[in-house]
Amino acid sequence: MTQSITPPRKATPQPKADHAPAMQTSESLAYFGGKIIPLRDANVSVATHGLHYGTGCFEGIRAYWNAEREQLNALFLREHFERFTRSRNLLKIPVRESVGELCEITLELLRRQGLRQDVYIRPLAFKSEATIKLVLGGLEDALTIFAFPMGDYIDISGGLHVCVSSWRRISNNAMPLRAKTTGAYVNSVLAAEDAHAAGFDEAIFLTESGTVSEGSSCNLFMLRRGELSTPRVADDILEGITRAGIMAMADREFGMHTVERAISRTELFDADELFFTGTGVQVAPITRLEGRAIGTGQPGPFVTALQQRYFAAVHGNDPAYAEWCTPVYQG
Ligand SMILES: Cc1ncc(COP(=O)(O)O)c(C=O)c1O
Repeated sequence: MTQSITPPRKATPQPKADHAPAMQTSESLAYFGGKIIPLRDANVSVATHGLHYGTGCFEGIRAYWNAEREQLNALFLREHFERFTRSRNLLKIPVRESVGELCEITLELLRRQGLRQDVYIRPLAFKSEATIKLVLGGLEDALTIFAFPMGDYIDISGGLHVCVSSWRRISNNAMPLRAKTTGAYVNSVLAAEDAHAAGFDEAIFLTESGTVSEGSSCNLFMLRRGELSTPRVADDILEGITRAGIMAMADREFGMHTVERAISRTELFDADELFFTGTGVQVAPITRLEGRAIGTGQPGPFVTALQQRYFAAVHGNDPAYAEWCTPVYQG
């Protein structure tokens, strides 16, 4: 495919519109301290260890409203709580609730709020003790889960214009990136903030050794010369749950096996298609990288078809992917 060069970007880029919704409304509920209470009452002390040192871990889970079936479907619920449990173990946060119990608590929370729209669910566990000590073991901890209405995290109706961040991805040897720890997200926030301030939609991180890693909150896929590839787990990525789902879907629906390999920055410019995956971004085509068109400069045929299949699956409209979805409402 020919690659066209788009005109130079404006001298004073405009920050992108914010799609992030409010996390709290007057009706919001939270699971906190072992019970479901109003979210406004789920508070912590400013002396909380997790607030000072980033000693927490979290998940981001979506539930999709299917208006035709009047059903809310939680996506990859079990898989998210399995990763949450692994993250908690790493931070020495005792895991008192089983994965099954965490799923049940979440479903109950959603039912109690009677949510009938797309929703984002945020489980968060952290060291809650008021102490200055740089330790993990033996400290008090806390767990909360709350949910709020959320549509697209970023506008994916067209294509994204992204940059390569000047911030490198923190190394797995500095912080365990397979665990979704709160402290590690300073790295993501810096990259996203600078990208937005410069007028881009998202940033792509490189690893310390200069190979492609991932987006600030999403995994990256590249279609180039007939090969679908994605950075390896060893390239300092979060092992995305959507990434795994998309790899399975690409195989099953399009006979397209994903190669996990080291990807160099310059290969990206030469890609036919690039796209992000993640709970927040869903399946998001990238159409421009640092002012250069990717492929035709429009969302490519592969990602467009993949996006359609993905949205059918997550809304519970494709029986082949029924195991991805947990229905919230019974009967
Ligand atoms: C840094 C990072 N990479 C990748 C992902 C995608 O992961 P998942 O598909 O499990 O949401 C996320 C989103 O949570 C993320 O924050």
